[in-house]
Amino acid sequence: MKKKKKKIIVTCAFPYSNGSIHIGHLLEHIQADIWVRYNRLIGKKVYFICSDDNHGTAIMLKSKEKKKKPENIIFKIYKEHILDFKKFNIIYDKYFFTHNKENRLLLNIIFDRLKHNGYIIKKKCSQLYDKKAKIFLSDRFIKGSCPKCYSKNQYGDNCEICGAFYKSIELIKPKSIITNFKPIIKKTNHFFLKLSLFKKKIKKWIISGIVNKQILNKLLEWFKNGIKSWNISRNKPYFGFKIKNKKNKFFYVWFDALIGYISTLKKLCNYNKIKNFDKFWYKKSKIKLYHFIGKDIIYFHSLFWSSILEGSKLRKPTKLFIHGYITINNNKMSKSRKTYIKAKSYFIKYNTDFLRYYYANKLSNSINDINFNINDFLKKINNDIINKLANLISRNSFFINNYFHNKLSKLFRNSKIFKIFIQESKKISKFYLNLQFNYVTNLIMKLIDLANFYINIRKPWYLLKKKKYNNLNKICSIGINLFKILITYLKPILPNFILKNEFFLNIKLTWLGIKKPLLGHKIKKFNKLFKHI
Ligand code: 2FM
Ligand code: ZN
Repeated sequence: MKKKKKKIIVTCAFPYSNGSIHIGHLLEHIQADIWVRYNRLIGKKVYFICSDDNHGTAIMLKSKEKKKKPENIIFKIYKEHILDFKKFNIIYDKYFFTHNKENRLLLNIIFDRLKHNGYIIKKKCSQLYDKKAKIFLSDRFIKGSCPKCYSKNQYGDNCEICGAFYKSIELIKPKSIITNFKPIIKKTNHFFLKLSLFKKKIKKWIISGIVNKQILNKLLEWFKNGIKSWNISRNKPYFGFKIKNKKNKFFYVWFDALIGYISTLKKLCNYNKIKNFDKFWYKKSKIKLYHFIGKDIIYFHSLFWSSILEGSKLRKPTKLFIHGYITINNNKMSKSRKTYIKAKSYFIKYNTDFLRYYYANKLSNSINDINFNINDFLKKINNDIINKLANLISRNSFFINNYFHNKLSKLFRNSKIFKIFIQESKKISKFYLNLQFNYVTNLIMKLIDLANFYINIRKPWYLLKKKKYNNLNKICSIGINLFKILITYLKPILPNFILKNEFFLNIKLTWLGIKKPLLGHKIKKFNKLFKHI
């Protein structure tokens, strides 16, 4: 009987519709895509999904400024985002958007459930209001000094310097970003999700190992400081889903974005005629659910999202995979400082595999920031990919193509180096699964050095000169077989490169195939793969 494939759902955080994809987004989407490709390579069934996060004040303001409907703006951006991801070979099973019927429907069902179960309360609260723009200011549209450490220029929800969380009305000297005016405090009604009711269960879930230790301590600290209710509504004007029977009230973008994880999967199931959509979300679902997110949105996923799910009696995520930020030359990415690289600016200039490799080489399972430096990038690619990897294949294929009619030897079954290379697959597997891609690439580079050394000391040029053809064929065939193992290991990271090599080697690279050498196999004529950059 055929073994049933293990099923997993993998998501990335939904990019907002108010801007282009940049290399900061790409870090996460490349990380997830590599992980997904690895899991597929070892035979798991993966549902890899993401969406554009359409709603919020920013889009509403942009639409006003441009005198265009928000729907038109988000659709244009959506098409752009899809193309950007595709260029980097980040291939989603479904990439959708949140401003759609399914999401609206699910959002209402979940909201009703939460209300019915007694988890939603209505409260009057004080908020900052910009009289000039006639708008209640969301946290991202107010800046002031942090009430805890007094750092200037902090947003209305938390301080980037000391990490404190606060209410926007607590900010010192607040200023509206929209008009630069000092906002007033105004009372208004809102809906809140009572997070304190889930405290025990969520804490248990968090401790059960959904995040690594570094983050666990931070989360437990938040718990110690007390869990406040979460405001899930916003006042008009807003671009989002209206709350039923409420004039002027919308759901907060984060509430419908999180539910977007469910509706995007629903969309995928509809498109691909996947039955039993419910089985993904049953409380006791066996299907694993992994979210890749940045460290800025841990709170939303560990607390808000899990509470929404707990409160509506649905399953919770299996793991949150959290990464740090991208810095450029050790500075925060910033448009004004011109340290902001859009996906498109990158891909019109360089092969997208190179960024995938560069990131893989720096990615570990910690939340430390990752620095992008152009000289370091060029050096790394030229050294690892061109000088080492491409060199290994070009020198060996030269002899096989020109002296052996493209045919590999049949005779090296017991080669010791071949065994060493195969044995490393266990470590590589472990590194991939633990998101230690830096260890994967480092180990592969060591193996490439070993392979190149192995060939060097056997002097193929010398063997040719001495007309020792059998030996020459054998050595170069080993070289090509070692290369084959190495690029199978690299398959999740370098999709462009692998595609060309599968054609050249005349074989589809599979994880099971690692152990099977190519004996007496015919390859194709080798074409130069990459030039130095
Ligand atoms: O932080 C962000 O960029 C959000 N748009 C992420 C949303 S993730 C999920 F809720 F959709
Ligand atoms: Zn502070």
